[in-house]
Parts: sequence; C-alpha cells; structure tokens
Amino acid sequence: MKATRRGFLGMGAAVAAASLSGCGPTSTHSTTSTKPFVFDASAPLRVRKSFWDLTDAEVRTLCKAVGYVRNTYLPTDPRKWDNYASIHAKHCTGEAGTDPHGMLQVHWSWHFLPWHRGYLFFLERILAHALREQGLDDSTFAYPFWDWTVHQGMPNTSERQARNLASPLWGYDLTQENMVTADTLGFDNLALYNGNRGPSLEKSGMTPDNEVSVDSKAHIIEASHYMSPEYINLALRLPWEQFGGLSEIKRTSQGILEAGPHNDGHDWVGTRFGSNRDMGTLKFAALDPIFFMHHGNIDRIFSLYRGEMPDVNGPWGQQTYTYTDADGSDVTVSVKDIMTTLTNAVEYKIPSDNALVPAVPFKQTHMIWLNTAGRVNVVEQHASSQSRTITFDFTHDESIPHDLANSVALLEVQTGPLMRTGRSLIQVYIDDQYVGRIRMLDGIASSTDSTVNHTFTLTAHKFKELLGFVSNPRHFRLTLVAKNFTGPIEVRQIGLRFLQ
Ligand code: C2O
Repeated sequence: MKATRRGFLGMGAAVAAASLSGCGPTSTHSTTSTKPFVFDASAPLRVRKSFWDLTDAEVRTLCKAVGYVRNTYLPTDPRKWDNYASIHAKHCTGEAGTDPHGMLQVHWSWHFLPWHRGYLFFLERILAHALREQGLDDSTFAYPFWDWTVHQGMPNTSERQARNLASPLWGYDLTQENMVTADTLGFDNLALYNGNRGPSLEKSGMTPDNEVSVDSKAHIIEASHYMSPEYINLALRLPWEQFGGLSEIKRTSQGILEAGPHNDGHDWVGTRFGSNRDMGTLKFAALDPIFFMHHGNIDRIFSLYRGEMPDVNGPWGQQTYTYTDADGSDVTVSVKDIMTTLTNAVEYKIPSDNALVPAVPFKQTHMIWLNTAGRVNVVEQHASSQSRTITFDFTHDESIPHDLANSVALLEVQTGPLMRTGRSLIQVYIDDQYVGRIRMLDGIASSTDSTVNHTFTLTAHKFKELLGFVSNPRHFRLTLVAKNFTGPIEVRQIGLRFLQ
C-alpha cells in the first residue's frame, strides 16, 4: 500500500481470549508444485473502500465476482470459494515447523497479520480474474472492508440505508428477490449471504438488547469496546509485541488486534460460547464473505500502524506462506514480500465516516509498582468456588510523578502459579467500574499448570480510567474478579506501566 500502510504494531494486552473456537483436524494438504510469486507491477492498484461507501454498482460487481467463484468453478478447482476457505482451515490446525507444506498455525502470534494480508490479497486476485472471465472490467475492483469501529452491526451501504433497504449480506434486494431461488437481476443476489450467522435481519446490530443470555449481553458490551475507535486508536500507539503479537505460536502470543476486536468480531457474527456457526469457528470462518470484510478492516488498521515492526530481513520476514493464485496454481510468498510488494499493491481509501487516525507510537515506558510496603491493603473475598474477588485499596501513591499525568498506563499484575479450570478469565474494575479483562502474556495457559508464575497486562481498554488514577492517585480501589481458577491466587506485584 502506499504511504498509508507502513506498519503494524501491536500491543497485546489484556484482551481476554475471546471465545472464537479453534478447528479440528483437517486432511493433509495435497501438494502440487509451488513457485515463488512474481508480482506484475502493471496490475491495477486495488483501492479498498469501506462497505458503507460502496455504490450499488460496486455491490453488484462484488456479487458477480464472489457469486462466480462460489458457484461456477468446479469443485476440483482450487479457486472455488470453499477450496480457498479450506486454505484458512488448514492454517489453523498446523503446528509451526512440523508440516512439510508450510501449513503452519497462523493465529496466536506475529504470523496473524501478514498471513491474513496475503490471504486477502490472493482472494482479491482470484475475484478480479473471475470478473475478467465474465467479460467484465476488474480494473477498479477491490474487496471492501467492514469498518466496525463505526458500523457496529451487520454492515450496509449508505445508498441502501438511505432507501431503507436491508444489507446485501442478507441477500441483495429482499424487496425484489426471495433468497432461495436463482436470481433474475443479472447477478448473484445471494453472493454475500451466509445462513450460518448469529445476527438476524431483525436483530442486526451489535447491542446487548439483541442478546438473550447474561453472558451474551456481557460479550457484546466487551466486543463493542474492543471494536470502538477509542480502543483502536489507542492500540495503534502500542509497541509491536502488544499490537501484533509475539513470535511464539500459542494462545498467549496474540496481539491485541487479534485477541480483542478480531476474535470478538468473529464471535459476534458467528456464535458466542458455542460452535457451529461459520464465523465463530476458525475452520469454517472463511466460508462467510464477511470474513474477508472483517479481515479487511483488521488489515486496514494494520496499515495505519506507525510503530516499529520486526525486521523483514530477520526470521519474521523470511517466513514463507503458500496461497492459491488467480490461475489456480500454488504460489509462495515471504512475509518480506507481503510487507513490501503486496502491501504496496493495495490502498485503503479513508472511509467517508472515518474514525481512525495513525498516530505517533508511544516511546518511553516508566514502571511504578503500586503494592510496595505501606501502599496497599489487600482484601480477598471468595464469592464462590468458581469466581472470587480480590480487592486492593490504594491509599499512598505520592510517588506517581505528576509529569505522567498525560501518559497512557498499562496495568500489570504478576501472580504466583495458577490452576485454571475451563474458560478462566480475570476481570478488572477500578472504583467499581469495569475497565477490562486481562490475559496471560507469559506462562502456559493450560488447565493443569501449577508451577509457572504469570504476568498479566491490562490492555489499552478504557485507559481513561487508568489515567484517572494519576489525577487523583491517593485513593482508588482495584478489584480483580477471577473466574474458574482453583487453588490460591497469589498476587505478587501490581504496577502501572506508563507509555508516552
Ligand atoms: Cu484466520 Cu479471522 O481468522
């Protein structure tokens, strides 16, 4: 991408693991020969727009491309939609370094952002090619993104919304077409539809009112925080390790872009706390056309990152991935290729209702430990065997310098060994106000681990409340609500890490 797309970063903080389900085993990839991808520099720049900003004509073109790839290619054609989706499924089962075909796991680590950038890029090439096969002009074609920072619900276009028409993601024009029979409008009016979604036409917004269970309502509140402009704009200023993830491939190595808005977006479209709706299960997620709009937005945010990223001449850049190209052949690209050539081949048009700004990343860090002698009282209450509350009353914070008043603060909690059962999480409240969840950044997130100390960092979620400490640091209460841990929870250190 042009100038807008340089960096990525990440901060991975405290997003609790969302419930996006993993995938079970899939069949081994049958290799054909792969060749290094060579980009033809005369290919048109793909300018991706917010779905909201698409014209009706552009939606029709998108439907013609997606519908053709879904329905016209033979089942044996690797470009057929379902086959392309299965590439993603294979990449959520592999273990790093053990698969001779490079089908490594591309979630939960720094592979996440570049791999999905490449995956979008080659889908777009396949779709452009499909337009040409239909005798259509593909020169201005690009896959749109779902800007959920502004449109927290099943996205529609502004033209259709102005006419009070439902989103084409439900089928193109519900006033003229039924969604079952073949279309008569000259394009595939079901191209963007997927029946395995949680939201319905009647309840298409990301709001707690549309949810039934208490857990689902809580999930939606969390999702809309992580998918808000406030959160993303802060995330964009965080160090790479937290924004884009760590080099190890394990659940705790996700950057916050993956762990927060990405996972929650999948879960919202798919299904929370369960399985079997496409977007909620990695193995099936890419079957839904909204997957690529969701990842378009993730990738757009990645393109706004201005922090320092890992060296593309180092191990990150040398990693290679294999994708299906527009002619159906397998091609190999490196992360370095993705971060240079592929990045420059795409541009994100600033949405008409844009809420995100690239910003200078935070530079310095300054750590202040809160629970040194005399500064804190610890109160532990056991609400139940499943959930417990640990409260800290901070009363002596004179050591927090006033010149940190404009800093963003991360909350860091170090504990002794923890025993987890099931889906454990720790929620954090400041003065009884929920400020976020924390996840493990180190240690093993297994249910049987009883030896490793853990450090949790609360991410950029609602930093305003953390900043509030600084303006009135003498009295505040920090509450940790820990769910599904057994045995003692020993909190060893609590600190604020200031970023400027
Ligand atoms: Cu590969 Cu959104 O997941």
